[in-house]
Amino acid sequence: MAHYSGLIDKYRDRLPVAPGTRAVSLNEGATPLIELVNLPVLVRKKVRLYAKFEGLNPTGSFKDRGMTMAVTRAVEEGARAIICASTGNTSAAAAAYAARAGIACFVLIPEGKIALGKLSQAMMHGSVVIQIRGNFDDGMRLVQEVARTTPVNIVNSINPYRIQGQKTVAFEVIEALGDVPDYHALPVGNAGNITAHWIGYSESVGEKTEALKADAGMRQYKRKKIAKRRPIMLGYQASGAAPIVRGRPVENPETVATAIRIGNPVSWQQAVAASHESGGWFAECTDEEILHVQKLLAQTEGIFCEPASAIALAGVLKDLELGKIGEGSIIVCTLTGHGLKDPDVAIAQSAQPVTVDAELPAIERVIRRHLPKT
Ligand code: F0G
Repeated sequence: MAHYSGLIDKYRDRLPVAPGTRAVSLNEGATPLIELVNLPVLVRKKVRLYAKFEGLNPTGSFKDRGMTMAVTRAVEEGARAIICASTGNTSAAAAAYAARAGIACFVLIPEGKIALGKLSQAMMHGSVVIQIRGNFDDGMRLVQEVARTTPVNIVNSINPYRIQGQKTVAFEVIEALGDVPDYHALPVGNAGNITAHWIGYSESVGEKTEALKADAGMRQYKRKKIAKRRPIMLGYQASGAAPIVRGRPVENPETVATAIRIGNPVSWQQAVAASHESGGWFAECTDEEILHVQKLLAQTEGIFCEPASAIALAGVLKDLELGKIGEGSIIVCTLTGHGLKDPDVAIAQSAQPVTVDAELPAIERVIRRHLPKT
């Protein structure tokens, strides 16, 4: 088998790149679709439940899919610098791909509200980190304003190439399952990713979608039918940052899932179109529900995702309990980012280490205390 060299090379015929375009890539994509084997037993539901673990991308989140496209095209167009507003993951991906491309990167982040791992990435890759005394929505507005007055190329998901790269997740799910799931659940923040998933699924069945129309100048790629139907899309928002669920912008969004601490999503309309076309719905989960499921997933399946990602699974478990999702369903949850991104939240909610003297009896005592009963 040829060496895997990233999603642009793999899906070139379904992406807006010329045959000769050299991809700026870190071999992103090709993430595993992991069947959750213990959770359905635990919640006593007969379903086939899968996690598409996007935390295993090169910078630890799904953003790499969009960033390889956005930066490849920016370089091709001669850009010297890229810029984004971010709750953390976009800035980490932008910083890494800019480093790879040898161009400058500016990131606007809400001061004190991004997870430590993400901040360390943006800093380590050498981007210029601008902390604003404001939230993501303020940053998003400022980025659009400053792009009019300075030579910077925006790599937020209003950049249509981002969405194009991110749509490839749907192709991979279909390839891995050999079919389309009945439901596909994911967290919704700025709403680009649900839009991208839907475009990917729609292209896979050769269907047109309203979600694509708003995507400036993008044609629908390749009517290459690789599936017979599209899944029902489920979008979940945190209760303190649920503008789409509530039907109005949230001025001061707040949630432990800082990745989706967004009150006025840029791709709102496309996301609603995607959800509507798919026959799906939006719903919310509380911070307690998010953290509970993040830990449950880590401790029953061995998968460590960040809080924002856990909301996809939290929402699905709730909707299974409510009977909104029926037994017998095939469900995929996109776990958008790795748990290591946010060590503070993980440590705060876990059992603390025990400290003992460096002696055998002390270690034995701890082991005996914690051994499972036979
Ligand atoms: N999950 C994670 C881990 C994210 O970082 C984001 C968005 C989302 C879900 C939501 O995706 O915005 O396409 O609806 N993070 C952006 C950022 C906003 O700046 O990193 P969305």
